[in-house]
Amino acid sequence: MAYPQTRLRRLRSSESIRRMVRETELSPSDLIYPMFVAPGLDVKVEVPSMPGVFRYSADLLAREAARAREAGVRAVLLFGLPPSKDEEGSGAWAEDGVVQRAVRLLKANIPDLLVITDVCLCEYTSHGHCGVLRNGEVDNDATLELLARTAVSHAEAGADIVAPSDMMDGRVGFIRESLDSAGFQNTLIMSYAAKYASAFYGPFRDAAESAPRFGDRRGYQMDPANRREAAREMVADIDEGADIIMVKPALAYLDIVSDARAITDLPVAAYNVSGEYSMVKAAAANGWLDEKRTVLEILTGIRRAGADLILTYHAVDAARWLTEEPAR
Ligand code: PBG
Repeated sequence: MAYPQTRLRRLRSSESIRRMVRETELSPSDLIYPMFVAPGLDVKVEVPSMPGVFRYSADLLAREAARAREAGVRAVLLFGLPPSKDEEGSGAWAEDGVVQRAVRLLKANIPDLLVITDVCLCEYTSHGHCGVLRNGEVDNDATLELLARTAVSHAEAGADIVAPSDMMDGRVGFIRESLDSAGFQNTLIMSYAAKYASAFYGPFRDAAESAPRFGDRRGYQMDPANRREAAREMVADIDEGADIIMVKPALAYLDIVSDARAITDLPVAAYNVSGEYSMVKAAAANGWLDEKRTVLEILTGIRRAGADLILTYHAVDAARWLTEEPAR
């Protein structure tokens, strides 16, 4: 039936009816809070291109993570800033590495907080690439060994979930086998399954000091123009044993998030990356956008596209906004 019998505005006529017919819910437990851990004690330094995001030493990181947990966030994702870097990225799997120490501290202090670790070498290598270099290129198969060693060291420290973000072929299967043979059958893998070579990672590379010293990541991260290829990446990671698949970035890739939802019944995560965060913060600081409404709209849009989980630097603010919302 068409107008005037059908009037779509009837379903929007009061807050109560809008609430009842709302199709997408956003809750603090959907959110994962990415955090940067630095060496030392009592360190808290703001990332210039990401207002409100800090690099913390483990002690202050634990305090901030507790604040996130109190706001209703159930998971954090850790990135490490090692005290020194080398050709291979050996800081990534050091038993007393920055991430390993932070994981132990978080698990000891906030037992019900899920700790996810980013598994990649780019923050640890002197050249800033995500793997071992051979003749100026990242050697896929030689890198797998080091990624697996890193994942196992995170699991040994107590990580609940490891999240490989390197985009090497075969790494999910390799990491799964390595975890299993080290006795970590219950450690989950959240794979960055469709990760694009994106300009939106710019502020992150400031935060993590992980910009490649030469070249770029287009030899391993995906071409932003490709959609069908993302499906192949996702299917490969699912076949290799991923527990959760991720699409990254989120906003310019909502079609990929929607494809992910259609391809699999696995939980789907989307990464609302640094550049997406910084754009909102910059516009809000200028008074050009209402930060709260914009952030909640963006996160709802990512959920609506099909993501169950969202990795976002807005996590703590959003969790607070979602819970303070008056029950009208
Ligand atoms: C590491 C990694 C990156 C991000 C997450 N893991 C950077 C990159 O691939 O260059 C980006 C996160 C963000 O922009 O918020 N490989």
